Amino acid sequence: MIPTELIRKKREGEALQPDELKFLVSGYVNDDIPDYQMAAFLMAVYFQGMSEPEMNEFTSLMLHSGTVIDLSFIPGIKVDKHSTGGVGDKVSIILAPLVAVCGVPVPMISGRGLGHTGGTLDKLESIPGFRTDLDIDTYKKIIEKIGLVMIGQTKNIAPADKKLYALRDVTATVECIPLIAGSIMSKKLAEGIDALVLDVKTGSGAFMREKDRAIELAQTLIRIGEAFGKRTIGFITDMNQPLGNAVGNWIEVVECVRCLKGENVPDLMEVTYRLAGAMIYLGEKAASIEEGEKIARRAIESGVAYEKFLELVREQGGDISFIENPSKYEKADVQEEVYLETEGYVEAIDNYRIGLAGLVSGAGRKNIVDTLDYTAGLVVHKKIGNRVDMGEPVATVYGNDRQGVQDAAHRVREAYRLSNNNVNAPQCIYGMATKDGYADYNEST
Ligand code: URA
Repeated sequence: MIPTELIRKKREGEALQPDELKFLVSGYVNDDIPDYQMAAFLMAVYFQGMSEPEMNEFTSLMLHSGTVIDLSFIPGIKVDKHSTGGVGDKVSIILAPLVAVCGVPVPMISGRGLGHTGGTLDKLESIPGFRTDLDIDTYKKIIEKIGLVMIGQTKNIAPADKKLYALRDVTATVECIPLIAGSIMSKKLAEGIDALVLDVKTGSGAFMREKDRAIELAQTLIRIGEAFGKRTIGFITDMNQPLGNAVGNWIEVVECVRCLKGENVPDLMEVTYRLAGAMIYLGEKAASIEEGEKIARRAIESGVAYEKFLELVREQGGDISFIENPSKYEKADVQEEVYLETEGYVEAIDNYRIGLAGLVSGAGRKNIVDTLDYTAGLVVHKKIGNRVDMGEPVATVYGNDRQGVQDAAHRVREAYRLSNNNVNAPQCIYGMATKDGYADYNEST
């Protein structure tokens, strides 16, 4: 086959055949197809899209470029959750032990911070000693022993996606639904799951800012999941402000520990309980999502979810004394309260700016080699709908680099918009997508 013929075919909007896609993907992984030709192909996909059979084939090729983990030796339906990413999105850290203790095994392979969004791996690694770089044998042993495991992508999981993602990142071809869907699902399908719950975020801090695009992505991910025989449910959730209050790494872990011990951070726990309910339902430990939610609430109230989290930390090498006594953790040297020049009700928060504020405080990476300041980040005290009076801080920024903290404080200030009128808090969960379609909670109630 001739690469330029296949690029031309896609450029003209035609669907490629399985052997043609295989030629391109395997050729790229084996270095037979150079970056410039693959980049041209990706750009053609960006403009022309992919048919459903093409998307499934493309996902399958990336999935089978590496190891597909077999967890069939573990009894029960293994269920994971994937979030498309956001600011203050710490749900996985509460959710995985919560669902596992309700009897559903959770094999979770997570990512690092990407752009303005945080990553579960970075947050977990802020726990002293916690190891996420485990090999597949250890991954299997831990989930078999304690019912959950949380690691990072190994070099054997979907290596084609790893190479393609790096190329997309530098060729402006990330924001393309077929490419995003193939990339996400190839990694999730490699984990050894039987079913999957998706949290597709929308709003100013999400990659899919428009709700319609988020719904389209959710439905595409669900179609791929179902085509591979995995029951898949998706929720469209709000990312127009940080989820919970903390944005960073260790400060997010501390917020999770408080929630695992029963504190109700309303938006964070509403999303967590809904996703937990869906996972428990797909894991066949509840007859409905609502019943699953009730089971999850009881697991928090009784303290067993917190105990499961301690077990996970211990099993993966973490020092639980920091979880039991977070004040032991080193403190950031610099702390700055953020004040606005006016008063009123919080009407909007530019959550992209908040994400970048977290990043420049030291909690994220400006480039790939940056090391993280685990104590850095921010806590928002005022969310949409809250009243801000003169002299009341809207947020506190933490870090060890004074300039970074000041830069972050400036970005937070710029992110807030106040109104003289009362403002309603936004809905946390907009609707649910399944293989049968999308139901918007506003329209369906
Ligand atoms: N996350 C992924 O894993 N892949 C994408 O393409 C985008 C977000």
